Amino acid sequence: MLQKLNQSASDEAGQQVEVWDLPIRLFHWAFACLTLAALLTGFYAPEWWLDRHLLIGAGLGGLLVFRIVWGFAGGRFARFSSFAYSPRALFTHLRRMLSGAPEHHLGHNPAGAMMVFALLLMVALMGISGLLALGGVEKEGPLAWLVDFESGWLSLRLHRFGAYLIAAMLVLHVAGVILQSRLEGQNLARAMITGRKRLLNEHLPPRIHKQLSRTDVAARNRSSVRPGRALAFALFLILTLAAFLEALSGLPVRGARALTMPASFRSECGDCHMAYHPALLPAASWRAIMDGLEDHFGEDATLDEAIRAEIERALIANSAETWDTKASHFFRVVDPAEPKRITRTPGWRARHAAIPAKVFKQKSIASKSNCGACHRDARRGTFADRHISIPAPRPGKEIAKASSSNSAKERTK
Ligand code: HEC
Ligand code: HEC
Repeated sequence: MLQKLNQSASDEAGQQVEVWDLPIRLFHWAFACLTLAALLTGFYAPEWWLDRHLLIGAGLGGLLVFRIVWGFAGGRFARFSSFAYSPRALFTHLRRMLSGAPEHHLGHNPAGAMMVFALLLMVALMGISGLLALGGVEKEGPLAWLVDFESGWLSLRLHRFGAYLIAAMLVLHVAGVILQSRLEGQNLARAMITGRKRLLNEHLPPRIHKQLSRTDVAARNRSSVRPGRALAFALFLILTLAAFLEALSGLPVRGARALTMPASFRSECGDCHMAYHPALLPAASWRAIMDGLEDHFGEDATLDEAIRAEIERALIANSAETWDTKASHFFRVVDPAEPKRITRTPGWRARHAAIPAKVFKQKSIASKSNCGACHRDARRGTFADRHISIPAPRPGKEIAKASSSNSAKERTK
């Protein structure tokens, strides 16, 4: 009798059994694609692709919510509890893996499980550091009320570091899958497509009266899905998160405000060029400009003294030192030789170094000082990445590429 049961048990071994349910498989590949897309747009896309990068981030956030829900209400092998191994189990697994005789696990093995948790955590942290950077540097998003520029800049650097870490983890993950596939003699990547893994003898439980057959494994996997619980949990998470982010987005932005300038400013200083936002230069530069209007970059821009003093006061009250926007930080330090020029500040030059001189000369732009030609939000002084657009004739790919590698350098600085 015993022998016969053992016999049927090993008959079952070697057959394919569904381990990964469809939602988990879809999740896995969507998560992989979006993570890659986030890395690529983060590292290689030009500044004005930030919107798309954010959209990808939002998609990853949605997938994270799903995975958390499914980790509590999904099939047996998707449940976090089914692969919450101890560090010791992980260690044993790795040791045996390296010695070429790994244990087999029908669901996630300890190394794979570790990778699942680590990647989910890292991507969540990337979302948080990304939102902190967005709030502090761009003054946008749900955390714009919270973070100042300096902390936003630091978050951006951490975000970047995290991206390298994730890239390294992905390489490790793929290497682990290849190694384990070789050792087990089955293609684990394909198993994540078909959902089926081979049932090995040792997957069958030792106590025969509790023996699981192939159909049992699949049936048990399916029957542990709790669709009602999953839906309720997902709705709860999404609604709370949405309400929370919505409420935060309504708070006043830190370090930025609506600009109020005397009417004379727009008419007098917006005549020959755009009326520059006062946050683009420090107070000392505005003072120098307003004290030398009779020779204003070769032009005579002299004003009635009352108006001149009124504009100077307003410029100084709103100078770079009084704002926390990225432009105010980038151009706060001027070129000592030409303290009156925004376009001579080291910050301006570094950020526009990749743009060929002939682009600035093209008809639709005419001058470096014509910020509004390429920055749709120049008047507001925000210079948000998503509002950058170089007018036609659009420069070729080399600018997009050069300027993004330039910004990459800037960001890591
Ligand atoms: C008569 C025309 C005229 C008026 C009026 C005028 N500007 Fe200018 N401004 C110029 C010219 C020309 C330049 C140099 C632009 C260039 O090199 O492309 C310039 C450049 C500047 C720059 C430096 C831009 C850069 O390249 O970094 C600032 C700042 C500036 N003006 C501020 C002001 C302010 C403030 C007022 C109002 C008090 C004002 N301008 C009024 C003609 C004018
Ligand atoms: C030919 C179009 C063009 C003109 C004119 C121009 N810019 Fe830019 N600016 C760009 C581009 C493109 C970038 C993005 C560069 C990069 O990828 O780092 C940029 C970046 C910036 C940034 C940094 C954005 C960030 O987050 O890194 C600021 C701030 C900025 N410009 C301010 C100005 C100001 C102020 C002026 C006018 C005095 C100006 N720009 C004129 C094209 C222009």
